[in-house]
Amino acid sequence: MLAIEWHDGLNVGVAFMDEDHAEAAALINALATSSGPERAATLETFIAHCREHFAREEAMMEKTGFFAHGCHQGEHVRVLAELEGVLARLKGGDEQDGYFAQALPQWLMNHRNTMDFVTAEFARAAGFTG
Ligand SMILES: [Fe+2]
Ligand SMILES: [Fe+2]
Repeated sequence: MLAIEWHDGLNVGVAFMDEDHAEAAALINALATSSGPERAATLETFIAHCREHFAREEAMMEKTGFFAHGCHQGEHVRVLAELEGVLARLKGGDEQDGYFAQALPQWLMNHRNTMDFVTAEFARAAGFTG
């Protein structure tokens, strides 16, 4: 069973976000089914993906004058710090299976359903086209 069953119904209507989120879901599924050095390498790829994706969302928030930019950016900063901590423990031998099978997939869904959804709606209403 996949950790996340991603589908087009989860799109938010901003092209780069939808492409990035599908890629994030695929990486999370790979994380949930890997272990050891492979899981650590995939997590490094996921963290790099998140840094680039968050920067794109933050640039869009800046460009469109999103009202909750600070709140949304703060959550990006928080989860990056969390992921770095998980990576350090993983390299120390703690597989943290529950984090990859449940907590991280739930984070992506929750973030998509709340901050990302509202940010995308605002950006589209403001005429953002990428
Ligand atoms: Fe996002
Ligand atoms: Fe976000």
